[in-house]
Amino acid sequence: MQGRSVASVLLLLSLHGLLRPQLQLVASAEIEDDVDVETGSSCHLLVTPPVVPDSAEERREHYRAMEAKDLLRHQQIIQKDTGTGGRRQARESSKLPEVMSDDSSMFELPMRSAINIAHVGMYIVSVRFGTPALPYNLVLDTATDLTWINCRLRRRKGKHYGRPRVQQSPTVNTLSVDGEGAPVRVLKNWYRPALSSSWRRFRCSQKACAVLPYNTCESPNQTASCSYRQVVQDGTTTSGIYGQEKATVALSGGRMAKLPGLILGCSTFEAGGSVDSHDGVLSLGNSDISFGIHAAKRFGARFSFCLLSTHSGRNASSYLTFGSNPAVKAPDTMETTLNYNPDMVAYGARVTGITLGGELLDIPPEVWDQAIVGAGMVLDTGTSVTGLVPSAYAAVTTALDSHLGHLQRVTNIAGFEFCYNWTFTGDGVDPAHNVTIPKFTVELEGGARLEPDAKSVVMPEVVPGVACLAFRKLPSGPGIFGNVLMQEHIWEFDHMDEKLRFRKDKCINHHLNPNNSNHA
Ligand SMILES: *[C@@H]1O[C@H](CO)[C@@H](O)[C@H](O)[C@H]1NC(C)=O
Ligand SMILES: *[C@@H]1O[C@H](CO)[C@@H](O)[C@H](O)[C@H]1NC(C)=O
Ligand SMILES: *[C@@H]1O[C@H](CO)[C@@H](O)[C@H](O)[C@H]1NC(C)=O
Ligand SMILES: *[C@@H]1O[C@H](CO)[C@@H](O)[C@H](O)[C@H]1NC(C)=O
Ligand SMILES: *[C@@H]1O[C@H](CO)[C@@H](O)[C@H](O)[C@H]1NC(C)=O
Repeated sequence: MQGRSVASVLLLLSLHGLLRPQLQLVASAEIEDDVDVETGSSCHLLVTPPVVPDSAEERREHYRAMEAKDLLRHQQIIQKDTGTGGRRQARESSKLPEVMSDDSSMFELPMRSAINIAHVGMYIVSVRFGTPALPYNLVLDTATDLTWINCRLRRRKGKHYGRPRVQQSPTVNTLSVDGEGAPVRVLKNWYRPALSSSWRRFRCSQKACAVLPYNTCESPNQTASCSYRQVVQDGTTTSGIYGQEKATVALSGGRMAKLPGLILGCSTFEAGGSVDSHDGVLSLGNSDISFGIHAAKRFGARFSFCLLSTHSGRNASSYLTFGSNPAVKAPDTMETTLNYNPDMVAYGARVTGITLGGELLDIPPEVWDQAIVGAGMVLDTGTSVTGLVPSAYAAVTTALDSHLGHLQRVTNIAGFEFCYNWTFTGDGVDPAHNVTIPKFTVELEGGARLEPDAKSVVMPEVVPGVACLAFRKLPSGPGIFGNVLMQEHIWEFDHMDEKLRFRKDKCINHHLNPNNSNHA
């Protein structure tokens, strides 16, 4: 796939020491005209859960697309881990690395589907960017560094770069075409740098540009915009230009503040079908250019988010919080070491074992050891179904199957190996069908225990009347904890203490400030 481009990014990042967050607060000189952020304050952004379609046929497509997305994300995450040949070459020549190569045939992509796999199973954050500040719906992505928004550049000399001309409104209806050629109406918020007084584009000649990942500048050119090209989740690419922009956020006290100096990709091109149901990606990964790290520097070096259940419905919402979050502080909050991998933007956690119904599963401990290349576990809010290497996958699925195996197996559900003709009820206890899903526990370093709900372990109603084991076999590690396993928990990434904290939470009572009208 995108081996060389990702590898070259890696080299740039590691050469510039960008792979660890720097924790000092931003100097007040950089805050400019903004409201001061007092020590101990926090800010909140609205998060909405993924939407699962209603009809059986759409669900089949949805989960087929989800598998393709999850496997491609895994490729993206691990390719930062491997391949040294391409890096040096790409850097020395300062050339645009080739984006696609030949192993993209590894998975069958649902090309004929109306579903763009980049948004299947994603949590969406609402963020205001620009001056005046306008809202955008971005994917909550803990495993990426680049924040980008679908973007329209100004017409110049009668020529328009990147996209056809549109009307004034930042929100426009566009037509997208599904696999059968039928137009689908979607609502999209375009970001328009020309209409934002706080946008500052980078040029290829600027030092700040040279260190940015996915960079496609060919020479330090005074006039050329600092451009990038990144392979996105669906295996296609997004490209555009880099700039600095401000975000407007609601503080815990109810006031608004501006976060300046954010690196923003103004994406003028998405190959292989535009991204329709959201406006881009909000990066929370471990990189100096990530929104998460940048914003955390202003707010106590931490962020937290609560992941509503996938079945919460369209109305439900929770928060992404920068700064201290009272919802994280409780007697039952678990704490483990937050692992930074020097070769990855994704964060890791050290698993010590998995138990089912109190019994430790027989999984080779090396599987969890992040010191070994291709082992360990990372957390990714953009992955849906938890991926495990074959030995761990076999142990987990065999153990769960021993509690469900008497049910009729259903074998034709794309994306899942273990599915059962069973209507999942309540907490997974169904005496009528002799089913009790035992307690599934991920034991983590320091004694922390992640105890996902039964429906995060056995997914109900994958199609009506069918439940499936919520695990995927990965050909190689590291494994990935996906958002299905992480749902109905609040998660805090504390970069000051290098801790990951979490606790069970339905995420429905986090309206800390009723006066807060930020979230239209
Ligand atoms: C610099 O960029 C401009 C616009 O992209 C282009 O016309 C010009 O040829 C470039 N100059 C060099 C030296 O590459
Ligand atoms: C969703 O929002 C609509 C309109 O505001 C409301 O009528 C409905 O009751 C809400 N549904 C849920 C499940 O909260
Ligand atoms: C119920 O299921 C368990 C395995 O989960 C099995 O050992 C037991 O025999 C079953 N009981 C009946 C009545 O089917
Ligand atoms: C589940 O079992 C019922 C009863 O045997 C059957 O009618 C139904 O078609 C089955 N559903 C699936 C998806 O196999
Ligand atoms: C909401 O606004 C009212 C009036 O401005 C104020 O008295 C109250 O403290 C505010 N509540 C919160 C939680 O900020």
